[in-house]
Amino acid sequence: MTAKAWGGRFSEGTAAIVEEMNASIAFDQILALEDIAGSIAHSRMLAAVGLISAAEQSDIETGLTAIAADIRAGQFAFTVAREDVHMNVEGALADRIGRAAGRLHTGRSRNDQVALDLRLFLRRELTRLGRDLARTIADLCKLAETHAALPMPGYTHLQRAQPITFGHHLGAWATMLARDLERLLDTRRRLSVSPLGSGALAGTPLPIDRHRVADELELPAITMNSLDGVADRDGALETLSTLSILMVHISRIAEELVLWTSQEFGFIALSDAFCTGSSLMPQKKNPDIPELLRGKAGRVFGALQALLTLMKGLPLAYNKDMQEDKEPLFDAMKTTRQCVAILPDLLAAMTVRPERMSDALKDGFLLATDLADYLVDKGVPFREAHHIVGAVVGHCVLSQKRLEDLDLETYRSISEHFDSQVFSALDVSRSLSRRNLPGGPAPEAVRTSITHLRRELSALEARLATGGPSRLEQALHEGTPLP
Ligand code: ARG
Repeated sequence: MTAKAWGGRFSEGTAAIVEEMNASIAFDQILALEDIAGSIAHSRMLAAVGLISAAEQSDIETGLTAIAADIRAGQFAFTVAREDVHMNVEGALADRIGRAAGRLHTGRSRNDQVALDLRLFLRRELTRLGRDLARTIADLCKLAETHAALPMPGYTHLQRAQPITFGHHLGAWATMLARDLERLLDTRRRLSVSPLGSGALAGTPLPIDRHRVADELELPAITMNSLDGVADRDGALETLSTLSILMVHISRIAEELVLWTSQEFGFIALSDAFCTGSSLMPQKKNPDIPELLRGKAGRVFGALQALLTLMKGLPLAYNKDMQEDKEPLFDAMKTTRQCVAILPDLLAAMTVRPERMSDALKDGFLLATDLADYLVDKGVPFREAHHIVGAVVGHCVLSQKRLEDLDLETYRSISEHFDSQVFSALDVSRSLSRRNLPGGPAPEAVRTSITHLRRELSALEARLATGGPSRLEQALHEGTPLP
């Protein structure tokens, strides 16, 4: 006979091969402390409404607290025979306190239990990720300010386009990541809802108090449909979408670091600690970490795709397929956290090479647009000015000259709108300082944008500081007395 929690109606044991496939304990044990927090909150509620006695509740809470200590110490023996994290914890509780453990699952199903655990896990992980992301954004703001006046070429189609500043470019990175932080907080808020009380799918006739459990776990709301409560994995899907977009941004930042450390660009150098060599070519110094950051995006996108495919077309409510949500989700979370955590050190490992940036500004006619704008100032319609400057560039290409190498006569032979002021239009720092509109690359505009971004960041940090894991979960993670 089987000793399974659900074994009552079974007369044969589970086949070993089935047990192996069915069990999720190898990967869902990561939810153990969240599972225990949910169980303690549930047991307190059960006692409050009189479904279990105060003495039974106390035994349950003491037992679960001791199990949490074992888990923290790495001394808890998770076993495949007990299938998943929920039954491992409940089984261990029964080993410790005996019969009273059997009352813990009153008015609850593993279906609403796992839905709750995932939400608590995501709330905690998103909070941790958010903190690291906020630190990166703050570092980028500082760097952007330092380099607010350092000219570099800006690109479109990876062709030199117009002068910008390095600070402006770094500010773009910070702005992208600030949107990610906001998305992450929005995701966290939406998923911070308690599904407990949904039961297996149809709630429970027992007089439980759903709000009390939610309050205990500092979840601001409860789910309002028991079918949806156990069938919904939007929180996981949305988290993976949010992480995917964040990884798009990280991969773009990483790609620019790869480009800029190349000999072709040489705009920055990375310290040896962030690079590796080649086993064959003695001269090589490769930007492995940016390359890995670029590559790891694929894993996170894969997780999103896996979960979308998993959930598509599933009938309500719970289906065992949904057990497959965990590995990709956990891997994507871990991967993204690792990538974000390394960013501040990676930025600190960067040495800027202003001379390479200014060399790159010399060729490529980056001031051609400024020349057209100069003609516009003289009253020439922009389309005409564009055409005239196109002819100037064509002339330079043929004669292998730069815009500033042509004399006034040559300019005037192309258009009589040119006068002696033309050369003042051909100055990088003048070009930059004139682009002093909100969001522009002028040093002053860059500083203003950074001030704005910092204000936004403090608002996001304030949101981050509340709405995270409950005190109960924190105490279980830290091993401090339970509130
Ligand atoms: N290990 C399961 C999962 O992760 C928990 C829920 C199981 N529920 C059930 N009715 N078999 O999805």
